[in-house]
Amino acid sequence: MSATTAPGASPVAVNQQASAPFSPPAFLFGGDWSPEQWDPRTWREDIELMRRAKVNTVSLGIFSWSALEPAEGVFETDWLHEVIDLLTDAGIGFFLATPTASPPPWFTLSHPEAMPVTAQGVRLTHGSRDTYAVSAPAYREASRRIARMLAERFGQHPGLSGWHLHNEYGTLDHGPEAARAFRSWLRDRYGSLDELNRHWSTAFWSQGYGDWEEITPPRATQYLHNPAQLIDFRRFSSDEMRAAMVEQRDEIRAAGSSAPMTTNFMLPEWNHLEQWGWADELDVVALDHYLDTPGPDAEAHVAYGSDLARSWSDGPWVLMEQNAAGIALGDRTVVKSADRMIRHSLGYIARGSQSSLFFQWRASLGGAEQWHSALVPHTGGTSRRFEAVCELGTILERIAPAVRPPSEGPLVEAEAGILWHADGWWALETPHLPSDAITYSDEVRATHRSFWRAGIPVDFVRPGSDASRYRFLVVPCLYPLSDAQVTWLEQYVDNGGELLVTFLSGISDPSLRIAPDGYPGRLRTLLGVRVEELRPLPAGEEVALSTGAVVEEWTELVDTVDAEPIAQYTHGDLCGLPAITRVARGAGHAVYLSARLRQESRDAFLADTAQRLGILPTLPGAAVRGLEAVRRRSSGADHVFLLHHGTESVTVRGEGRDLISGRDTAQGLDIEPGGWAVLALSPAEVLEIVEG
Ligand code: GLA
Repeated sequence: MSATTAPGASPVAVNQQASAPFSPPAFLFGGDWSPEQWDPRTWREDIELMRRAKVNTVSLGIFSWSALEPAEGVFETDWLHEVIDLLTDAGIGFFLATPTASPPPWFTLSHPEAMPVTAQGVRLTHGSRDTYAVSAPAYREASRRIARMLAERFGQHPGLSGWHLHNEYGTLDHGPEAARAFRSWLRDRYGSLDELNRHWSTAFWSQGYGDWEEITPPRATQYLHNPAQLIDFRRFSSDEMRAAMVEQRDEIRAAGSSAPMTTNFMLPEWNHLEQWGWADELDVVALDHYLDTPGPDAEAHVAYGSDLARSWSDGPWVLMEQNAAGIALGDRTVVKSADRMIRHSLGYIARGSQSSLFFQWRASLGGAEQWHSALVPHTGGTSRRFEAVCELGTILERIAPAVRPPSEGPLVEAEAGILWHADGWWALETPHLPSDAITYSDEVRATHRSFWRAGIPVDFVRPGSDASRYRFLVVPCLYPLSDAQVTWLEQYVDNGGELLVTFLSGISDPSLRIAPDGYPGRLRTLLGVRVEELRPLPAGEEVALSTGAVVEEWTELVDTVDAEPIAQYTHGDLCGLPAITRVARGAGHAVYLSARLRQESRDAFLADTAQRLGILPTLPGAAVRGLEAVRRRSSGADHVFLLHHGTESVTVRGEGRDLISGRDTAQGLDIEPGGWAVLALSPAEVLEIVEG
């Protein structure tokens, strides 16, 4: 069966060139659709509902392997052709997934060696999903085969918005296939066993390797693992999964499909990828973003995920999944109100998303996620929830002028940056650090939260990239640093940047070997300090600084070498000694923060520093009222997204128009609590709050 396009219907077509920013003609709206779970009558009802809601994009095939290839080498795609025809007739585009996250039972039975093994030595089997050994040749071959088949049959379809490669890569394997590939990765990295032994500090606890075959993934062992082995295994696993993804991409390209390629990264707590390197292989970054709190921090978390995705993508990105109506807290799922769902959708778009896509279109009636929310709930299209979905569809249509990325310059202009690297995350997950209370994710997120609370736009920055547009760069807890990264940070300061380095940064080299002669060894010279002792605090203990800032969890015994103290500890053994220091170097300054500031103190410190540097909030006076303001640039105009998370009405004024309500803003526009607006302004136009 061949695909047809009905006269007049135009599925959302996006740019097909790998190098151009991802630029669909309208914001992509929809979600994962699993027609294989439903009968054809429901497909038709779904299409009707999609039209009603103005859905223009769905993601197909994510977990369809057993439906597409019911037996090895036997492909059944008639149903998918039929579904795509229905979509096309309705003018709805689609991402097509390679279904490789969920190999079917026949695959497990014929290739038991391609099932992953846990660190405890348990070989997993089908029954859930994500059950594959990524290094197993049979899995790789089967993945390439099905990717190729899909590309040959659907790769030229005009409704194809892009390729959704796999789903949330992240299954770690500790079995024999992984061991073989890990050894080969280590040979490439170290060249010789002598080098590996040196980097892994294997003289400790009699771990010297005399043969490559002796090396295994970090499997269950009696006591603590070697941290260098652990972090290398994380790097290897990321590289191995990336190689699998690249193979699929190349198969699809070789079959002649030029549609954009993406895969969905995952946040907040599941981090198995080195995102910068992965992004290099993709046309656009996609993110699945699930909130982990129902409280007010959810809004900051939306901004955090969005700023990360925009930074990884270096421009527009795709929100591939968010939860339509729930916030899963582990032991229960609480409801996300419909207006919050809309505000969050606008929040992702404000910060560069080209889409508002959800998991999932229709709530399943069976299977493991039958209680997961959806755009069409179990109650169906006749529901308040679905009315809100239709409202979102209308809003997205109205704000379509914001979708075009600017012809030059960033999508969101930020003068502040936060250094991000997965190495920091993985390093702080190794055991027996001075304190388990410090996690990379919490520290980076707390830093980002401070900027968000101040209403100051911020990017995440790749080590080694061009950071010249950032006047202020924060390095939270990036424990290992390479020589090149240290030199890059030095140059950033020499060239006039203000660098803020926090505790637990620059402690070690990439192999997690501590740099000697005082902490943070790799950055001591740059920061002009020498730390003699790391002093984690007992849980619940707080220490005040001379500035009034409050510290929890972490302090240090700091000697200034060249730096000046700008805050001192005020209690105990450290009383009078420096807690925060600053040193001039070249045209810039380097600040060292040796203590973990409580969130409010961190907020004040970062906002004060930004103010001193002349870095302004997007809309002065907004954040304190709970009004989030983000300026997203597009060709010809700026769009200021106003999302009101506060409790009192706020009036803004500026020469422009709210694309959603159509109201003119020159005389003032009231934004009610829980409300939103997207203002089209000329790039030079200044928006202000009307004091009432
Ligand atoms: C992930 C997956 C989806 C679904 C959701 C549930 O993001 O990609 O298939 O399982 O989680 O929240």
